[in-house]
Amino acid sequence: MLLSLRRSRPAACGLLLSLIALPACAQVTTSAPAPVPVVPATPAVPTTPRPKVLLIATGGTIAGVQNAPGTLGAYRAGTLTAEQIISSVPELARFAQVETEQFSNVASTLVTPEMWVTLAKRINEVLQREDLAGVVVTHGTDRLEETAFFLYLTVRSEKPVVVVGAQRPATGISPDGPINLLAAVRTAASPKAVAKGVMVVMDDRILSARESRKLYQRTGGFSTGDMGMLGVVANQGPEFFFAPVRRFGPRSEFDLAGVDTLPRVELTMSYPGGTGPSFATNPVGVVVATTGMTRAEGQAYRTLRQQGVVVVTSFTSGENVNGGGGDGPPPTPVRDTTVRATATRDTTARAEPAEPPAPPAVTALHLTAGKARILLMVALTRTKDPREIQRIFNEY
Ligand code: SIN
Repeated sequence: MLLSLRRSRPAACGLLLSLIALPACAQVTTSAPAPVPVVPATPAVPTTPRPKVLLIATGGTIAGVQNAPGTLGAYRAGTLTAEQIISSVPELARFAQVETEQFSNVASTLVTPEMWVTLAKRINEVLQREDLAGVVVTHGTDRLEETAFFLYLTVRSEKPVVVVGAQRPATGISPDGPINLLAAVRTAASPKAVAKGVMVVMDDRILSARESRKLYQRTGGFSTGDMGMLGVVANQGPEFFFAPVRRFGPRSEFDLAGVDTLPRVELTMSYPGGTGPSFATNPVGVVVATTGMTRAEGQAYRTLRQQGVVVVTSFTSGENVNGGGGDGPPPTPVRDTTVRATATRDTTARAEPAEPPAPPAVTALHLTAGKARILLMVALTRTKDPREIQRIFNEY
């Protein structure tokens, strides 16, 4: 009995047993009440050519291994290699020929903007290959939405690029990495996914990288809120219901040739009683998450604008769509409440001298402050003119 169970154990178990002692796989006893149906460890691979997909691994929980496997305990993100990750999902071979590349193997909190640039350049390069259908990037979920959005802005190909992670480590109980990876590869291999921009595929959902957010740290935690999903990965494969219409892919104006580092942009938040930030980093731009500023905050950001810093406001929830100009006539200028004449009943009182003019602030349309920061960093590689940057925020 023990022998037959061992023969039929899934390849994932076999891989993990060879890597580490895995009690969940090893502690099979002869006391099982009924025979377990035998499942073939290696699915039949079709003889017809399958699309080629390149998996670029960066680390994260999808490559995580626990100190005590098979528990809910602590783990080291970014431990398994790309090859180890794919060999634990033999089913992949039914849908694609998967090649692998190890870009990094880190927790995603260690991913830097410079790494985004290198990764985007690499993806732009490999997608020139005619034989390659698409790319899957495995990534830690903590910073997945940021990397995915950067790629959405800077990968100038129609071919699918899918970013995927997992909320439970590969050695955990019911890991979500293998099923997420299978869904991601099926999406990247699918002609239906062409011209949909960079996508995040998690929990059978296909999300646009522009809108996807990690709302919580459990399976199902990635969402696009009111903006909805592009589609789902069903048993029969990816099914799309919507396509994004904003600028991305080949219509993106952001060419990374000659760009190795991104301009410094800080991220701040306004709050009751706030007086505005001060920086030791000399930023070129600032994004502030706000639903409305105090007078002191408004004055502080105005001073920054006067100093040539580009200031972008984003609604704290990331859900706002007002501002930015749109297709209509230019909006009536709103009175700047940060600068008021001291109008009192005392007619001898004088108005305060007019403030020197400040370049306008830019409004982010339905982007979280974190994503608005990335768009501003990319925009600043082309221009520092806030009007032109507003145009960019309106289009992407
Ligand atoms: C990470 O972001 O690298 C760790 C957390 C995760 O992948 O879910």
